[in-house]
This record gives sequence, structure tokens and C-alpha cells, in this order.
Amino acid sequence: MIPCRPLLALFALLSMSCGALAQAVDPVVRGGQVYRDLCAMCHAADPNRDRPAAAARRQDGVLTALETTGAMRFLRSTLSAADISAVQAWLDFVVLPAGAVRPETGIWWNPAEPGRGFALEYGQGFMTFSAYFYADDGRPDWATAAFRYDGSVAWGEAPLNQFRDGQALLAPWREALLAPSPGAVSIRFDSPTRATITWPGGSVPVERVLLEAGTTARPPAPGYPEPGLWWNPAETGRGYVLDVQGTSVMLLGYLYDDDGRALWFNTIASMPTRFRFEADWYRFADGQTLRGAFRPVRRVEPPVGRVVIDFDTPRSGVLTLPGGRRVPIVRYF
Ligand code: HEC
Repeated sequence: MIPCRPLLALFALLSMSCGALAQAVDPVVRGGQVYRDLCAMCHAADPNRDRPAAAARRQDGVLTALETTGAMRFLRSTLSAADISAVQAWLDFVVLPAGAVRPETGIWWNPAEPGRGFALEYGQGFMTFSAYFYADDGRPDWATAAFRYDGSVAWGEAPLNQFRDGQALLAPWREALLAPSPGAVSIRFDSPTRATITWPGGSVPVERVLLEAGTTARPPAPGYPEPGLWWNPAETGRGYVLDVQGTSVMLLGYLYDDDGRALWFNTIASMPTRFRFEADWYRFADGQTLRGAFRPVRRVEPPVGRVVIDFDTPRSGVLTLPGGRRVPIVRYF
């Protein structure tokens, strides 16, 4: 039995009970660990993007690959039979079937309604969704959702979750509490870069944001950080979304203000090297609400402060908050 991972809870797997979540995930947790510890030495962290995907949903797929590929044969004797079948179970769980729509990880938006945005990521069998918009009084607000996604239908639905009273930017950690749900969200994926979100605000056609000129989002430059959800596992309840295209980066922070209300900051900057991101974090105001018609946003001056991330690897780094406090962050998936 694993404890409920708090950010996963943040991403609203609260729709299942903690017990059901543990049951859904338990058989594959060990396999995920083995994969990260061993397989990822030679293969991509995300097996969807590399050869291990070939072993998913095939009888003894992992075992056969280890026995027949010279470079991996040593693992046949290093790993126990239980570990090998755990890796098999994990691959079966996380690798989407051929032909499934695999939405791109990153920030999405409706270009006709700038100022509001959506972060999407597929990880470990789940689709996570977060939306950033504005409350009726014009302050920034956000909501999250997550649903099981196996690609068999290019569609999913989950309750939206909102949180309050979590950690403010410069405050010590405190546990975020669940706020009343504003409704449900369903997402239909038309392609890896196009989808339709249907939520209490109606239906919104969305596509992947482009951070650099072109017609499709570029992959991160070699060695640059992975786009997706990031967090500090010791400070659950707040998180960060990075979109990385070429050498351009968008950094969103999801947190709370000093009164415990949801808050987000955003910035876009280019990263001259893969080791360091540095920019001014901004707060925005008065934009489109969850249910309302489009209205333009206002950028609040001056910026909230300088934010810096020093990356050790594409999946880990240290974020320096305005004021100098350093927070270790890692990829969530
Ligand atoms: C020491 C490096 C190394 C490690 C560790 C490793 N692999 Fe591989 N793997 C390879 C190489 C090399 C190939 C062959 C690549 C090619 O043919 O292009 C490969 C290929 C594969 C394939 C495709 C086999 C086929 O027949 O198409 C699968 C599946 C696979 N690995 C799964 C795994 C799994 C699961 C683990 C962890 C238990 C793992 N690998 C660990 C190096 C490694």
C-alpha cells in the first residue's frame, strides 16, 4: 500500500478514494522504480518515447527483450522474476497503445482568448490538467483535474478541484485544503496538439502554445529541462509547470496568497544555456474567468520578483525564490 502522493491528490485523483488510487497504482509502483533506477540509465525516462515501449502489452515482452538484446542480458540475472514482471506491469500501465492520441505535454490555450491557459501532461497512466484563469474579483485563480487515460478513447472527464490555504510564496509550508469544486471538465483530444475542453465555462477549443516562431512546438533543445509538472516533494500543494520549446521557457507557479487564496505567476524567457533559467515572475489580473466571456488581462507592475532555476539534470534543479530562499524541485512524473 503506498501513501497517496499529495500532488497527485492535488491533481484531483481525489475523485477516487485514496484506497482505490493505491489499488490502481500499487502493482506498478515497484516496476516504475526499477525502470527509473535501471532501465533509464540507457533509455528515455518516458518509455513512450523509446524502445521499451515495444515491450508493453506483449506476453513476456520485457523478459524476451532482456534475453535477446546483448546490451541488456546482464539484467536478466540481476533482476528477480518479480522485478521483471513489475516492469512489465508498469510498461503495460504507462505506455499508450499504438494509434492512441498522446497529447503534447506543456501549456495549451485558445489563441482567440489569450490570458487564460491550460497545462496538460500524460504521466503514469493519468492525464493531468490544470487551468489558470481569473476569479470574479479579477485576481488570478486556478483549478486542476486528473483522470485515468489509457488512450483507448481520446477523451476523459473528471471533477475540477480547487484548493485554499496552501503555502504562500515566501511562507513556510502548510497543507492546502480542498475548496468546493466548481464542476467537472471533459477533454477530447483531436490530435497531439489540439483538443476541446468542456467545463462550466462551455466548450473551449485549445491548442499547444507556441513559444517560438513556427507552426509546431519545437522539442526542448538537447539537455534542456523536460516540460511538464515539477514540484518539491517536501512542499506539497504548490507546484510549477514548465513548458520548454527549443531554448524558450515558460514558467508558471501555482500557489496561494498570504490570505490563502489560489494564486499563480507566469513568465516567459529564453534560456541561453541548459543550466540556468532566470526571469521576472509576473502576476496578471482582470482576465477571463472560468465561466465568463473573453476580456483582456492586465499585467501587474512591478513584477513579483526575480526567479532563478539552476538545473542539475533535465529532471532536477534548485529554484531560487525572490528573496533568496532555495527550493529543490524535480519532475513530478
Ligand atoms: C545498459 C544499457 C541498457 C539498459 C540498462 C537497459 N536497456 Fe533496453 N536496450 C538497450 C539497447 C542497446 C537496446 C537496443 C537498441 C536498439 O536496438 O536500437 C535496448 C532495447 C530495448 C528494447 C527493445 C527490444 C526489441 O527487441 O525491440 C526493450 C523493450 C528494452 N530495451 C527494455 C528495457 C527495459 C525494460 C530495461 C530495464 C529493465 C532496459 N531495457 C534496460 C540498452 C539497455
